[in-house]
Amino acid sequence: MKITSAEFVCSNTEVAKCPGEPLPEYAFIGRSNVGKSSLINMLTERKSLAKTSGRPGKTQLINHFIINKDWFLVDLPGYGYARTSKKQKARFQKLIDKYFTQRTQLLAAFLLVDIRHDPQPIDLDFMEWLNGKSIPFSLVFTKADKLKPGAREHAVKSYQEKMKVRGWVEMPPYFITSSSKNLGREELLAYIGGVNRAFRESGKG
Ligand code: GTP
Ligand code: MG
Repeated sequence: MKITSAEFVCSNTEVAKCPGEPLPEYAFIGRSNVGKSSLINMLTERKSLAKTSGRPGKTQLINHFIINKDWFLVDLPGYGYARTSKKQKARFQKLIDKYFTQRTQLLAAFLLVDIRHDPQPIDLDFMEWLNGKSIPFSLVFTKADKLKPGAREHAVKSYQEKMKVRGWVEMPPYFITSSSKNLGREELLAYIGGVNRAFRESGKG
């Protein structure tokens, strides 16, 4: 899919105030600093559409971006940053919970994980939570540039093995990406294009 336009729409602390148009929507979620905002910039080829930072906890709101005037990408605050205050953690958790529970436009989530790390309990819990809510999700392995090409598939296999131990029988689709090296862009956009088409053909869009 070709991206012809990508624009920031709004930032919200309240799900009820998010855009009302019934357009297909995709959300990026994962631990703080995993690379959610960077991936949005890589996909849209806009350097600073979403705000990124070397320090965790940069994205604090629900950020909507409209792509090709036709579908939304959503940048969410990360979870699991140890140095966030208890109060802030509770606020983020409530926001994320509400977002995934109330956003009927959401067609799929992308759960980002760092390709260098084993599955973290917080990510496994979040996958189970999404599954419990019947929200389709894909795994996006980020920062693949930090591993040699040969080590990437191995890291994914090892990750999947550990998911199996946690009871996952069917693996979600996955993508290997690097925002700094533009890796995985075509695959992710093709996937979104396919989901958009299926949604429109279903007569719901
Ligand atoms: P929060 O908004 O805090 O939840 O973080 P985030 O998940 O949006 O992460 P962000 O995109 O701000 O990136 C965090 C850090 O990781 C930044 O220093 C990025 O430059 C770096 N980063 C993101 N993606 C990649 C990547 O593919 N490769 C490398 N090497 N670094 C990356
Ligand atoms: Mg961010």
